[in-house]
Parts: sequence; structure tokens; C-alpha cells
Amino acid sequence: MSDPAIVKHSIEMSADNLPVAESCLRNQEPIFDVLSKELQSGSVVLELGSGTGQHAAFISQRLPQIRWQPSELAENIPAINAWREHVKAENFLPPLVLDIAQDLWPVKQVDAVFSANLVHFVGWEKVRSMMAGIGRVLRTSGLAIFYGPYNYNSEFTSAGNRQLDEWLKSRDPSSGIKDFEQIVITARKEKLRLIKDIDMPANNRILVMQKYA
Ligand SMILES: C[S@@+](CC[C@H](N)C(=O)[O-])C[C@H]1O[C@@H](n2cnc3c(N)ncnc32)[C@H](O)[C@@H]1O
Repeated sequence: MSDPAIVKHSIEMSADNLPVAESCLRNQEPIFDVLSKELQSGSVVLELGSGTGQHAAFISQRLPQIRWQPSELAENIPAINAWREHVKAENFLPPLVLDIAQDLWPVKQVDAVFSANLVHFVGWEKVRSMMAGIGRVLRTSGLAIFYGPYNYNSEFTSAGNRQLDEWLKSRDPSSGIKDFEQIVITARKEKLRLIKDIDMPANNRILVMQKYA
């Protein structure tokens, strides 16, 4: 597909039959650069909406001192298991079935939470549920790290992000790129304070939030 906004979400099968999202191939290295600085050694990191499992595979191999806990909707668990079997990293934990909208999450406490390209993929109701869930399971002083595109002052930051938003809404009218300012307010309600807003390639950001007591 030539439309860059749609390519962002396309998934192909690799020669060894692993699901590969084009976007992950481009963003995994820059995301790793940030996570390697932000995550403390020994942390258990819960990933929400792990998708193909490529981030779990990439980060668990590069950061063996971190325990990576992927999670996804039930239908996407086999993809993550395929990557887990492929990389055979001990710190790549078996994926959990976790819908961010559910009230009870299948984890007690984690040191950090990470998600990539999840916030724009779902509607506000699910984002609020996700923040509440993070508020329940993230330990005090732990980090919640969100990678993806955001709008500032209700403006798209690029034509590509505008196109992506149109595509997202065509498949789910409740979804779409969220306002940075609203995300910060929603997170605050769950005792998550923005500590960094990092510029990433291709008009994406990484928001780093810290849980306060
Ligand atoms: C755009 S994809 C991003 C996948 C992956 N994080 C990545 O960066 O390639 C969004 C993912 O969110 C997942 N997702 C959608 N709704 C969800 C929900 N309610 N709870 C958990 N994950 C969800 C989808 O299954 C999909 O894999």
C-alpha cells in the first residue's frame, strides 16, 4: 500500500512465518533508545496492546535485565506466542489476555507500563479505562510510557497524522488521535503525572508519566 497512514498499521508474514507490522520495523530502535534510559534494571514491564509481539521480542532481547509482560486481546495472543517461541528469551513472559476496558486486570503490581500505538486505536472510554487500570496496577513512582501520535491545541502535527486519523475513524468512529492536553488531564485523575514529552521520528511522541502516592 502506498498510503503512509495505512501502511502504519499493515501486518505481513515474514519468511519464517512470523507476523510483522511495518511500523514496528521502523519504530523499534528509537523506542528502544528511550526505554533503555527510562526503565530500571529488574523492572517488570506490562505492555498493553502488544499487537504482533515485535516490541516484546525486540526489547526483551536487548534488555535482558527487564522482565517484559506482553498482553493483548485474546485473538492476538497466538502472534505474540509465535515471536516468543522464536526468540526464546527467558524475560519474554507468556502473553496475558487483557482488554484494557476490563475492570480486573490479570496482574497485581508492575514497575512500569508501556503501550505503542494503542491510545489512538481505541475510543476515549477505553483510554479512561486504561488509565484507571494503570492506576490500579502500577506501583508508586512507577512509569507509564505511551508511544504514538498526539494532537497539540487540537491540531494535527502533520498531514500524515491527519490521514491516519481519517483511516482510524473510518474503521471505528470512536477512535482517533487524541489531544495531548486531554491525555495529561485524564492521566492525572489516576495519579499519573507527565514528566517527559519526547519527540520521536515520523511525528510521534513518547509520553512518560510517573505514578505519585
Ligand atoms: C495499532 S495496533 C498497535 C500494536 C502494537 N502495540 C504495535 O505497536 O505494533 C493496536 C493494538 O491494540 C490492540 N487493542 C485494541 N483494543 C484493545 C483493547 N481494548 N485492549 C487491549 N488491546 C487492544 C489491537 O488488538 C492492536 O493489536
